[in-house]
Amino acid sequence: LYLDLIIIVRKGIILAGGTGSRLNPITNSVSKQLLPVYNKPMIYYPLSTLMLAGIRDILIICNPKDKSLFQQLLLDGKQLGINISFEIQNEPNGIAQAFIIGEDFLEGNSATLILGDNLFYGNDLSDKLKKASEKERGATLFGFQVNDPGRYGVLEFSSDNIILNIEEKPIKPKSNYAVTGIYFYDCKVVEYAKSLKKSRRGEYEITDLNNIYLNNGSLTGEIFGRGSAWFDTGTYDSLLEASNFIYTLEKRQSLKIGIPEEVAWRKGWISNKDLKRLSKPLMNSSYGKYLFALSNENKI
Ligand code: G1P
Repeated sequence: LYLDLIIIVRKGIILAGGTGSRLNPITNSVSKQLLPVYNKPMIYYPLSTLMLAGIRDILIICNPKDKSLFQQLLLDGKQLGINISFEIQNEPNGIAQAFIIGEDFLEGNSATLILGDNLFYGNDLSDKLKKASEKERGATLFGFQVNDPGRYGVLEFSSDNIILNIEEKPIKPKSNYAVTGIYFYDCKVVEYAKSLKKSRRGEYEITDLNNIYLNNGSLTGEIFGRGSAWFDTGTYDSLLEASNFIYTLEKRQSLKIGIPEEVAWRKGWISNKDLKRLSKPLMNSSYGKYLFALSNENKI
């Protein structure tokens, strides 16, 4: 008997396109996802989050003019023990378009999408991400309680906490739970994304994609609860709030957040020696000194 073994891996996509128009004029000449959130470029946070989920094959989708800047910053990922590749989004036609652009990269595997301006933090984050990552069928999304749900995709729950529907930027939100910008899908995602029609605002909506999974009975909703934080850093205020949050935590704990080199090292994808080498060109900054100090430690 000959068994054809197909191994499905999970690949990651960071969507770092868009015009960033809510941040004009800051984003007139610089990509939003390259702006600093306190002491590191914004994209370090979603990149670290994907790596925490155990994902090592990562596609960055960006605007044509920004590709070389992202490459300059992240190279091909080998220095972090991962693979980073790039694709271009010529026009911002919606989040779900990421799966059409990423079809060749995904090669029929499962996919985790994270928005390049989303920042996650929390004690149980890593475990929750790993659990979602290991699921081979269906989709998982994460809700987070906010005071301004109308700005987001919003979850509607039944009385026994089953998700009934997801609405994109509703005028009358049915709950305070926003859908955060990290989404785990099985290998059906490209096929489903191709079936989407543009919404009234002219976009391929991630919410419509999520509703396909919901209507198939294959959507799992998880909640990032108390003790976790989620920021989408696309406005002046949220960018500052996220920076202040990172500043406060890092100052208090002397632990840093959103450092891809550290995640790679803790995962065992790079050695102490590799980490030391990466720290060397950065030694004028506390970022470099932090990496150097870690490289002399044993992992916890
Ligand atoms: C997008 C999604 C929305 C989601 C949000 C999370 O909104 O359309 O469903 O809640 O990201 O950041 P956008 O930021 O494109 O307005």
